[in-house]
Amino acid sequence: MKILKNISLKQYNTFGIDVNAAEYAEVADVESLKGLIKAGRLKDAHYLILGGGSNVLFTGDYDGLVIRNMIVGIRMKEVDDSNVLVTAGAGVVWDDLVHYCIEHDLGGIENLISIPGSVGAGPIQNIGAYGVELKDTFHSLDAIEIATGELRTFYKEECEFGYRDSIFKRGKKGKFIIVSVSLLLKSKSKPDISYGAISEELIKMGILDGPVIGDVGKAISSIRQRKLPDPENIGNAGSFFKNPLIVVEKYAEIREQYPDAPSYKAGGGMVKVPAGWLIEQCGWKGNRHGGAGVHDMQALVLINTGNASGKEVLELAGQIMDSVNDRFGISLEMEVNVI
Ligand code: FAD
Ligand code: EPU
Repeated sequence: MKILKNISLKQYNTFGIDVNAAEYAEVADVESLKGLIKAGRLKDAHYLILGGGSNVLFTGDYDGLVIRNMIVGIRMKEVDDSNVLVTAGAGVVWDDLVHYCIEHDLGGIENLISIPGSVGAGPIQNIGAYGVELKDTFHSLDAIEIATGELRTFYKEECEFGYRDSIFKRGKKGKFIIVSVSLLLKSKSKPDISYGAISEELIKMGILDGPVIGDVGKAISSIRQRKLPDPENIGNAGSFFKNPLIVVEKYAEIREQYPDAPSYKAGGGMVKVPAGWLIEQCGWKGNRHGGAGVHDMQALVLINTGNASGKEVLELAGQIMDSVNDRFGISLEMEVNVI
């Protein structure tokens, strides 16, 4: 494994922010990671584990070691007639795993198709889309503890998954390097098409009865292509903010002024309000701040229009948060990891 000096990270983050890392290494196996730890390279806070760079915003040069996780490989183990345990290396491209599972007729993650990034980052924020979250099929993960260099298994309950959240974003943040993830998937499974837009899309595709997991994957992929900018053309990191949870009484107040305000059910006297809608109501859709901007089709997605700096994107995010707070009294929380 080579440690390279002064490397541009532009191609390693989907925002396309042009910053340099003082040091950069690609790690393809667990032993090399353990070697770095043994050599004392991960002792202080000056390291960053990077997967596909699709949920990070660099605000300046990185004055430390960036370790790109490239541990690959997918294994399957039949548990019983209808359950299969699929284990993938943290460096596998998440969408490759989804396609692999669809090809092997293993259901459970088809709704998470086309989410950029690596398998290893999936549990960090419990990736979710179209009514499904990683936690729904998650079995366990293996991770190296940076302080000791030991390999440890985390089972589902220990990960404390929540909406775009896990223990790896809180108490265990930066303390473990995930090296593989195991999912419990179903053979002969019936896809979940309860999320509104999916059945409409299937009808458009001419699939009226009994869609299979591959059909659902294709339907969701098409919706996503229409809704979200492709980072290959426009730098972005997907939703910049989380959708805020508010109490039902607060939502009722908003509805008095905006009878069409959308919402997602959240239970426990809470409602989730789409942050994209809140941001659009504040007039931000399509706005620009230097090289940064708000996407003109989806206000929840901040973009790099060409040569944005991470600071410009962060300033724009701050202005948006202030104005949503002023207008609605709601504090938005960033989903993207600011580095
Ligand atoms: P990175 O951006 O490289 O890293 C994210 C965080 O995880 C960083 O803090 C990093 O240090 C840490 N990390 C990464 N790998 C490891 C590891 N092996 N061990 C320990 N820590 C690690 N997300 C959704 O949930 N749903 C969506 O529908 C969705 N749509 C998106 C659409 C677009 C166009 C884009 C650009 C992003 C979207 N995202 C979505 C966000 C993003 O794809 C996910 O968060 C994804 O899991 C990030 O993976 P990554 O490998 O790129 O992570
Ligand atoms: N909306 C607006 N204006 C906008 C954008 C959205 O009014 O500019 C409204 C839409 O009309 C719709 C609602 O907001 O009524 C929801 O919009 P959308 O279906 O696009 O989904 P979202 O809530 O913005 C969430 C996730 C996405 C995920 C999709 C599909 C979060 C933070 N985002 O987006 O995840 O793909 O649902 O399940 O939960 C990500 O996390 O990076 C991400 C892309």
